[in-house]
Formats: sequence, structure tokens, C-alpha cells
Amino acid sequence: MKLVFATHNSNKAKEIQSLLTDDFQILTLTDINCIDEIPETSETLEGNSLLKAQFVSDNFNLNCFADDTGLEIDALNGRPGVYSARYAGEEKNAEANMNLVLSELKNESNRKALFRTVITLILNDKTNVFEGIIRGEIADEKRGTDGFGYDPIFIPEGQTKTFAEMTLAEKNQQSHRARAFEEMIDFLKNDI
Ligand code: IMP
Repeated sequence: MKLVFATHNSNKAKEIQSLLTDDFQILTLTDINCIDEIPETSETLEGNSLLKAQFVSDNFNLNCFADDTGLEIDALNGRPGVYSARYAGEEKNAEANMNLVLSELKNESNRKALFRTVITLILNDKTNVFEGIIRGEIADEKRGTDGFGYDPIFIPEGQTKTFAEMTLAEKNQQSHRARAFEEMIDFLKNDI
């Protein structure tokens, strides 16, 4: 079965393909010649992942899934959340985003946060939603050079290293995205 992952990132697609049997063929937006910038105008992760999956389902009539991720910080009432990529501005600069979070949390003792990934799968016109969460806290300063986004300031619960101080394998064993994808893969393997 052909399944479109609503992303242009072929590495993300390869990672998922490696976790599935040959019964599933994962295609990216590039593979289906979808060059449109799909609007992500919702105010929730659920809404944006649905918008992306629905766009492919409506315009290409193919089974499809899409993901959306955000960092939700307790003391900031869940911000940056759905605005994580562009928290400090439309240029989507990770350093500026982290600096803004650190300055907003200056002198704040509650540093609890979580990463949340939502996946919407539209399979045979039915919509299924999966979620992956990792809880942790925001570090006092940036540490580590691996990873991307907010990795240098996120420490998973019960651990001491930030995501950016871990190897990719260490991060992938526990990450929000990995957990959400595991849920979808279990569903694809068992429920259809
Ligand atoms: P996306 O929905 O995967 O594009 O993620 C939106 C934004 O959330 C990214 O631009 C990053 O700022 C942040 N983000 C998502 N996943 C991670 C992660 O695993 N580590 C750090 N930041 C992340």
C-alpha cells in the first residue's frame, strides 16, 4: 500500500519506511510532485497535522499522514506550543527561539516542559490521530551540539543530559516523535 508522508524531508520518510514491512511504500510530497507550501494556519498541533494530511487526501486522493510537534512549557501556559518553529520570528531561528525561552524563564523555578508530537493519518477516508509525549524540564543554559530546534535546552525527566548532548540513537529511543510513530506503526501492523 502506498502511504504519503506529508513532508519534503526524505530522511524522515526513510526512517519510517525502515520500521515498516514492504507492504507499505512511504512516499514524500516530492515523490508525488506536490510542490505547494501546505498552509499550517491552525492554532493546535492536531489542527495543523490534519490540515496537511487533508490537503494530500483531497488533492491527490492518496492515503496520507502528517506530523506536527511543539514544545509546551508549564510556566508559559503551554507556549511556544504550535508556534515552536517561529517563536522568536518568522525567520524560524533556533538560537533566537531558545534565547527567548531562556529569558522568559529567567528567575522562574518551575521549569517543567514537554515535547508533543501529533500525527494524523487519513487511511481509506478514515481519520486516525496518534500522540507521543516526553516530559522534562528546561535547562538554565544551552548545552550540547547535536540535534536541532530546542534540543540544547531540553532535559528529559529523570536524566541529566540535554537532548543535544545525546546521540541520535539515544534521543530516538525516547523522543516524542519516536513514540508517536510507534503508535501509528502498531496501528498499521495490527489494525488493518
Ligand atoms: P515540526 O512540526 O517537526 O516541524 O516541529 C516544529 C518545531 O518544533 C521545530 O521547528 C522545532 O523548533 C521544534 N521541534 C520539533 N521537534 C523537536 C525536537 O525533537 N527537538 C527540538 N526541537 C524540536
